[in-house]
Amino acid sequence: MPKKLDLTDNLENYIINHSENLTDVQKDIINHNISLGDQQRLQISISQAQFLQTLIKISSIKKILEVGSFTGFSALSMALALPPDGHVISLDKNSEFSNKARSFYEKANEKRIKQIIKPALESLNQLKNTKQIFDLIFIDADKENYLNYYEISIDLVDKGGLIIIDNVLWHGEVADKSKNDKFTNIIREFNKHVKQDNRITKNIIPIGDGLTICIKN
Ligand SMILES: C[S@@+](CC[C@H](N)C(=O)[O-])C[C@H]1O[C@@H](n2cnc3c(N)ncnc32)[C@H](O)[C@@H]1O
Repeated sequence: MPKKLDLTDNLENYIINHSENLTDVQKDIINHNISLGDQQRLQISISQAQFLQTLIKISSIKKILEVGSFTGFSALSMALALPPDGHVISLDKNSEFSNKARSFYEKANEKRIKQIIKPALESLNQLKNTKQIFDLIFIDADKENYLNYYEISIDLVDKGGLIIIDNVLWHGEVADKSKNDKFTNIIREFNKHVKQDNRITKNIIPIGDGLTICIKN
């Protein structure tokens, strides 16, 4: 029988503690997010950030687009893994979150992150109209628009580039037939769409709330 791990919080902490260290500002963002209470769950997990950093480093990625910045943990984590001439464009419609994120980028002296503060679909269409191309697009915003973000991302990502989508396992509920609420069904439909899409090669990784890694063919 193939072995599988029961990924408890204890084991998750062990993995984090035995992977690459976080910087002081990454820790500051995490602590700030904890102080927000319930909203802290918007942030990607630490192990997801470490995984994204590894992917960026091994793939020579330079141009990153993020859909959904919140207070900046994922954008800063990705920027820290970039070569000096890399950059991140991070999209969010919420100016309060974006201002907080900016304060953390400044504290980290990280100048390679550009923020665009408005509804992400508008920004994505503008980026498409100006023929911008990215090596990696990370989608982590409103689930109702996942399909729209994904479809525009196909046009915005380079051949061989990556589209990575968060929350694709939706706390494990996607595989539970008794769960039929709006968001579980949105994610299920989205996963079905990606599975049937021959324009990309795909793999779901059970890290954090589940990441789909798509490589554009
Ligand atoms: C899950 S959080 C992103 C978390 C972030 N990636 C991190 O790890 O810290 C989702 C973000 O998407 C933003 N958002 C929701 N709907 C949006 C929309 N239509 N356009 C742009 N941003 C949106 C929210 O303001 C929120 O900050």
